[in-house]
Amino acid sequence: MAKLIVRPTASADIDALLRLQAQVYPSIAPWKRDQLAHQLELFPQGQLVAELDGRLVGCASSLVILWDEWAEEHTWSEITASGTFDTHTPQGLTLYGAEVFVDPRLRGKRVGHLLYEGRRKLCKQLNLRRIIACGRLPGYARVADQMPIELYARKVLWGDLHDPVLSFQLREGFRYCGIMKNYLPDDHESCGHASLIAWINPDHDPSQSTALQCAASGDTESAP
Ligand SMILES: CC(C)(COP(=O)(O)OP(=O)(O)OC[C@H]1O[C@@H](n2cnc3c(N)ncnc32)[C@H](O)[C@@H]1OP(=O)(O)O)[C@@H](O)C(=O)NCCC(=O)NCCS
Repeated sequence: MAKLIVRPTASADIDALLRLQAQVYPSIAPWKRDQLAHQLELFPQGQLVAELDGRLVGCASSLVILWDEWAEEHTWSEITASGTFDTHTPQGLTLYGAEVFVDPRLRGKRVGHLLYEGRRKLCKQLNLRRIIACGRLPGYARVADQMPIELYARKVLWGDLHDPVLSFQLREGFRYCGIMKNYLPDDHESCGHASLIAWINPDHDPSQSTALQCAASGDTESAP
């Protein structure tokens, strides 16, 4: 039986990750090797890959942010410091999903679900308050001449339209919080826009510091 696992990303995965990313986004500029290495250095727990029988088939990359600094408006490039994750802030309460993708040949087989499970588990382990992300809306360009992006997203929420990313994220328990315009201008399928989505960690304990805050202050006693 095929073995599908989600595990932390290792430096040795970088080449395979870059190859997979080029297949997933043929028209969007891929990450650079040193960006991935830097992400791993800054926040190793936040970088996950999915592996099927030893072959890399997906990834989910995250950083921690102070959400109040970004809540009103941001682009992908701003919040990820152009993919370097230099904006990663261990004092933050929010796990920010910067990227998730799955091998196009393996879509619909729960790889994305497992990666999202991995993120939720990480959020709980670190005692973070929530996961926030801005999701692509790749079904929008095809109907963009018929409706504004806000109506498109609402139709996905109402179940009248299916979007390959937002429908999946809603099914994964995320709440839709509105549109981030011009989030990723190179993403022509989404006409550059994204949906702001949030998942609240039901186990978050506000009376405790997060594990990253404890580690930063050298206090391991109060870590949950
Ligand atoms: C979004 C993405 C990560 C989802 O990954 P995935 O592995 O296909 O996700 P899953 O298999 O867990 O779920 C996909 C769908 O298959 C369905 N599915 C999965 N297994 C199923 C099964 N056994 N029976 C029936 N349906 C099933 C899920 O319910 C889900 O349906 P939905 O979209 O209506 O919710 C993937 O499509 C992708 O890589 N897209 C391109 C990159 C991208 O745009 N990423 C998002 C960046 S914001």
